Amino acid sequence: MKVLIVTEKPFAKIAVDGIRKEIEAAGYEVALLEKYTDKAQLLDAVKDANAIIIRSDIIDAEVLDAAKELKIVVRAGAGYDNVDLEAATAHGVCVMNTPGQNANAVAELVLGMMVYAVRNFFNGTSGTELMGKKLGIHAYGNVGRNVARIAKGFGMEIYAFDPFCPKEVMENDGVKVVSSVEELYQICNVVSLHIPATAETKNSINYNLLKNMPKGAVLINTARKEVINEGELIELMDERNDFKYITDIMPAAHTKFVELFAGRYFSTPKKMGAQTAEANINAGIAAAKQIVGFLKDGCEKFRVNK
Ligand code: 3PG
Repeated sequence: MKVLIVTEKPFAKIAVDGIRKEIEAAGYEVALLEKYTDKAQLLDAVKDANAIIIRSDIIDAEVLDAAKELKIVVRAGAGYDNVDLEAATAHGVCVMNTPGQNANAVAELVLGMMVYAVRNFFNGTSGTELMGKKLGIHAYGNVGRNVARIAKGFGMEIYAFDPFCPKEVMENDGVKVVSSVEELYQICNVVSLHIPATAETKNSINYNLLKNMPKGAVLINTARKEVINEGELIELMDERNDFKYITDIMPAAHTKFVELFAGRYFSTPKKMGAQTAEANINAGIAAAKQIVGFLKDGCEKFRVNK
C-alpha cells in the first residue's frame, strides 16, 4: 500500500517524519509531493497511490480519475471545500478530515491579528486595548472555541452565533449566545470568522451585515476568502475609514485593498493559521492514523462524504 503526502504548502519536517513513522509501522510505503507548481505533477504522483494526505490541495474529478488505486483521502485539517466530495463518492473514495487538530494554532493567530489591528499595525501611534471590548465569534466550532478560551485571558466580553452548536456548549464556556448573525455584528467591536465555505456561506459577509458594526470595527478572517463579498467589503471600507479588515486568506482583490486601505487592511502572503510545527504534527499524524485505521480495520470515523 502506498500513502502519498501531497502538500503544495509543506508540513514542518518533524511532522513528515512523524507521519512516515506511523505509515511505515503499519507496513505501508510513503511518497511525498511537496511545493508542486503544476497540476500535471499531482496527476502523475497520484497514479499508484492507495491513500493520500492533503492540506488545502485541490482534489477534483480529474485528480480522482487519475488516481486509479485510490481508496481514501484525508485532509489534514478542518475545511474540506478543496475536495470534490461527490466525485470522490462516485469513485468509491472515502474522504476524511482531522477536526480540531490545528485549531489552537489558528486561534492563536486570530488573537495576534486582533492585537496587530487595535495597535495600528505596530506603527507607533496610540491604539486601543482588547480588554473590555466585545468579541463576536461567528461559528463556534473547534477554532471558535479556542478563540473564546484565549480571548477570555485578554478580558474580552465574548459573544457567539452558531445555529449548529447547542446553546449550552457556548454558555458553559462563559460565552453570550446571540440569536441572529445580524445581532452579532451589531454588538461586537471585533468579529472573527470561523464559518466554512459552503453554498450558503459564500459571499454572505456583505455590506448589510458589516455596516452596523460599531465605530472602530475590526473583521478578522482566518476561515475562507470565499465567504466575503469582496466588492461590498471594499464599498463599506470606502465609506467607513474606521473599519479594519485583517485576513489570513488573501482576497482576489488584494491589490485593490492594499491601494485603497493602507493602515486598515492586512493579509498574510499565504494562509498560515495552521502553519505551526505543533499543528502540522497533530493534523499530519492524525491523518496517518486515520488512514491506517481505515485500511486495516475499515474505521470510517471522521468520514465527510457519503
Ligand atoms: C483548515 O481548514 O484546516 C485550515 O484552513 C488550514 O489549512 P492549511 O492546512 O491549508 O494550512
